Amino acid sequence: MDGDADGTPQATRRDFLYYATAGAGAVVAGAALWPLVDQMNPSADVLALLSIQVDISGVEPGTQLTVMWQGKPVFIRNRTPAEVAAALAEEVTDLPDPFARNANLPEDALAVDANRAVPDRETILVQIGVCTHLGCVPLGDGAGDFGGWFCPCHGSHYDAAGRIRRGPAPENLHIPPYALAEDGTLTIG
Ligand code: FES
Repeated sequence: MDGDADGTPQATRRDFLYYATAGAGAVVAGAALWPLVDQMNPSADVLALLSIQVDISGVEPGTQLTVMWQGKPVFIRNRTPAEVAAALAEEVTDLPDPFARNANLPEDALAVDANRAVPDRETILVQIGVCTHLGCVPLGDGAGDFGGWFCPCHGSHYDAAGRIRRGPAPENLHIPPYALAEDGTLTIG
């Protein structure tokens, strides 16, 4: 990363190449999961756009699975206890965006960790992997200065709950509608 006069990171050619590679990886991961969708139903193509099912029972702590839903990557992260503790320690009043941005909750729900994580599964975070600035796919696995995700396009840092902490992105990463069954099947959409 390069920096300009006021210290704002500027994406380099290498950053964009890395971003493009990460995006391609997301597509491959999503394609591998398409067989989980009922392809025999005449309306399967339509249903696939609206809703997908993913077995997340094998997502180990500290790892992230990326799938495609409605043409967008969805990050499914099983957070470590340390990541959860860091996210819980933040006060909503300190956050640039105080709202949960969770499609499963009212629009005015606050961005406390409990409103970002899957209910009763506080280590699991499901969020759309699209930067709320101009739509790049952020890097994950603890990237950035706040241990979450980092968008190298213009330098947006998200924390371990996917909340914007620094940079031009105006909102926390959005959380799609989902339901998680006891057997680990996650339905998105
Ligand atoms: Fe600009 Fe992410 S798209 S910081």
